[in-house]
Amino acid sequence: MKIKKAIIPAAGYGTRSLPITKVLPKEMFPINGKPAIHYVVEEAVASGIEEILIVVSRNKNMILDYFDRSLELEAFLAETNKQHLLKKLSVPKAHIQFVRQPFARGLGDAIQMGRPFINDEPFAVLLPDDIFVEKKRSLKQLINVYEQQSSSVIGVKQVKKELLHNYGVIKGRTISSGLNQIVDIVEKPKSSPPSDLAVVGRYVLHPDIFTFLEQTKPGIGGEIQLTDALKAMLQVRKCYGYEVSGERFDIGSHKEYFKLLKKLYCDEG
Ligand code: UTP
Repeated sequence: MKIKKAIIPAAGYGTRSLPITKVLPKEMFPINGKPAIHYVVEEAVASGIEEILIVVSRNKNMILDYFDRSLELEAFLAETNKQHLLKKLSVPKAHIQFVRQPFARGLGDAIQMGRPFINDEPFAVLLPDDIFVEKKRSLKQLINVYEQQSSSVIGVKQVKKELLHNYGVIKGRTISSGLNQIVDIVEKPKSSPPSDLAVVGRYVLHPDIFTFLEQTKPGIGGEIQLTDALKAMLQVRKCYGYEVSGERFDIGSHKEYFKLLKKLYCDEG
């Protein structure tokens, strides 16, 4: 079945990036004049996604405004002979809807908000604070695996041992180069991570995940963790970890956000 729908959860508080995230959502952090979430929507559309649900919270109206037309601004540009700037207002072509997560109860809870939108088909999830610099779109790589395996697949990357405690970490059985069948998954392991393969912010999921999310109790940090629901789903459904290519930047970390800006600036020469 073709993967046409994606959920982009963007309702978190962005506590690592305070104080700016008190007023500016990290999903709106500028990257070469466009907000981070623009790149993620672009990646989804380039990977074949047609319908997107963005999960927001009360103080994230800026995201809705960004993807809406500004007729006033368009009229102003037209009247002042600045039509050439109109193309700068274009956003990736997809049908975008929004839903509010009333309280930031975790990534798993944010994805649950999308259940009626997804309506029992396989779907993608893209975390808008994980930016990949790669021509071969990370999500497209996962969709290709889903189409071959007909099972959920999540993006993973090798991470230094000392940093694994910040991630979900998989234990996998190698199937082929870059492809692992997941046999266990642990959220933010305090010690003895099962491998050095960490979950990064791209997923293609079987809709059964909603049943498992519904049963998931708050885990690490008191949040409903997607990782915990995935672990439960492993008992009945196969799930793969695929090592996505390309450099990944977590813009929720000041250091990585800066590294991303530096890379793009240097690449543009
Ligand atoms: P993160 O954990 O990276 O984001 O969640 P956060 O919670 O906003 O940031 P920190 O850790 O406090 O700095 C990954 C994505 O999931 C969304 C976030 O907005 C982010 O894009 N999210 C997280 C939700 O939509 N709802 C939640 O309850 C939690």
